[in-house]
Amino acid sequence: MNKDEDLEKYAKELQEQIMEQIKKRYSENVIAHWQNPKNFQKMDNPDGCAQVKGSCGDTMEMFLKMKDGVVKQCTFQTDGCGTSIVCGSVATELAQNKSFTQALGGVTAEEILKQLGGLPEEDVHCAQLAAETLRRALADYLYQKRAPWKKHYRNT
Ligand code: FES
Repeated sequence: MNKDEDLEKYAKELQEQIMEQIKKRYSENVIAHWQNPKNFQKMDNPDGCAQVKGSCGDTMEMFLKMKDGVVKQCTFQTDGCGTSIVCGSVATELAQNKSFTQALGGVTAEEILKQLGGLPEEDVHCAQLAAETLRRALADYLYQKRAPWKKHYRNT
């Protein structure tokens, strides 16, 4: 085995060890969203949007496209940890095709955690960040609906 093959083998073993550690801490659904996050993109011209800084200092942004009071599209961005990406992915999936009221009342941190089969205690705030960002994006939608001219003054 040459030096490159040695290095490649070492990297592969390391990767497998890391994945084993991750599997011990997180459910299959967490890993699936982590490897393939949904709706992870900025949206142009949203009907509602919000940016929230979590207790950890990380930020999440959410964007909504609404039609007849129903969430037709929900996307997000974050500069946060892997778990925040997972939680944003789940929150945006849950919100899609829900009425304003269903999304507001139903996409809570508890629901996100339930969908994920729970998270380690130190990651629970990532679910809270995703739920709070969605709540504020929905509030922004309501605000924009009442004062549509204000949309032109926001930085999105
Ligand atoms: Fe900041 Fe997860 S550690 S959002």
